[in-house]
Amino acid sequence: MMKERKVSFSGIQPSGELHLGNYLGALRHWPTFQEKYDCVYCVVDAHAITVRQDPAKLRRSTLELYAQLIACGIDPEKSILFVQSQVPAHAELAWILNCYTMFGELSRMTQFKDKSARNADNINAGLFTYPSLMAADILLYQTDVVPVGEDQRQHVELARDIVKRFNGVYGDVFTEPEAVIPKFGARVMSLNNPESKMSKSMPEGCVFVMEKPEDIMRKFKRAVTDSDTENCVCYDRAAKPGVATLMDIYSACTGRSFEAIEAEFAGQGYGAFKPKVGEAVVELLRPVREETQRLLADKAYLESVYRAGAEKAAHVAERTLRKVQKKVGFLAR
Ligand code: TYM
Repeated sequence: MMKERKVSFSGIQPSGELHLGNYLGALRHWPTFQEKYDCVYCVVDAHAITVRQDPAKLRRSTLELYAQLIACGIDPEKSILFVQSQVPAHAELAWILNCYTMFGELSRMTQFKDKSARNADNINAGLFTYPSLMAADILLYQTDVVPVGEDQRQHVELARDIVKRFNGVYGDVFTEPEAVIPKFGARVMSLNNPESKMSKSMPEGCVFVMEKPEDIMRKFKRAVTDSDTENCVCYDRAAKPGVATLMDIYSACTGRSFEAIEAEFAGQGYGAFKPKVGEAVVELLRPVREETQRLLADKAYLESVYRAGAEKAAHVAERTLRKVQKKVGFLAR
């Protein structure tokens, strides 16, 4: 069957709070995809339990993130917006794909290496096979494009390799997906350690979407720059990683080029630049924070929307799953 429009799929983990890196690298772009693609967006709680979670907190973060996706502009009438654990086809296909994913491939995944180094006492099988579940997420919807930040490119590449392997044996079962990485904001770095990507595991260098404006401003005022005596706001990632990080963020928030930013702050120094970046971020995030708060006050609405989302997702996902089960030789139900 020919699809009328191409399909876009993406997911985000409800482990901890949504941060500026997630927003600039992924979420901000998702609503615009709705104009061109049939979109499917997922809060991936099954992925989140590869690291120990407090159950009550996970439930809260899942609902909050679901609300945040709507607040960012994902329209649950236009897109399929759902919670991963509510669509069992994900776990079922992940098992099958595990049998078509190689130990060597999974061993090479950077995220697995990073996370197992950080959670040395809990290197569980789920953490290792995480990319097969992610491939299942993507492949169930016959996805063409996957909007993600740079750090997820390797996982999408693996999903493509799995498709080639599977289709090579069974014919055209899955669509081959392609990662779509934004030009700006694809790798937002930490404010206090600009050599590492912004992540919730380093909260001082991480700006959270729900954070109070004064806390965001404080983090920007304290952001690491360098000891250049001229305090020059100019882009040089190798020599001035802190300034480059702030320029990346300012550029992603305002749409201004690095040249324009250099001109704007010529002769003004870091003291003027840092709070300006903070203000731009506060203004960018304000509507998302306020709309999320409004949505979270209406739990009944959120529940009805995530239930409907799971039903729509299951309908599409099961079609692919049945096809796969037949191909690998399972009896029809
Ligand atoms: P997650 O939850 O870590 O991140 C969600 C999205 O945010 C992007 N991102 C960043 N972008 C720029 N700078 C940063 N510092 C930064 N940190 C995070 C990520 O690239 C991602 O796009 N495995 C995925 C979730 C997932 C998924 C999927 C994604 C599960 N199944 C299927 C796409 C398709 C993850 O852990 O993302």
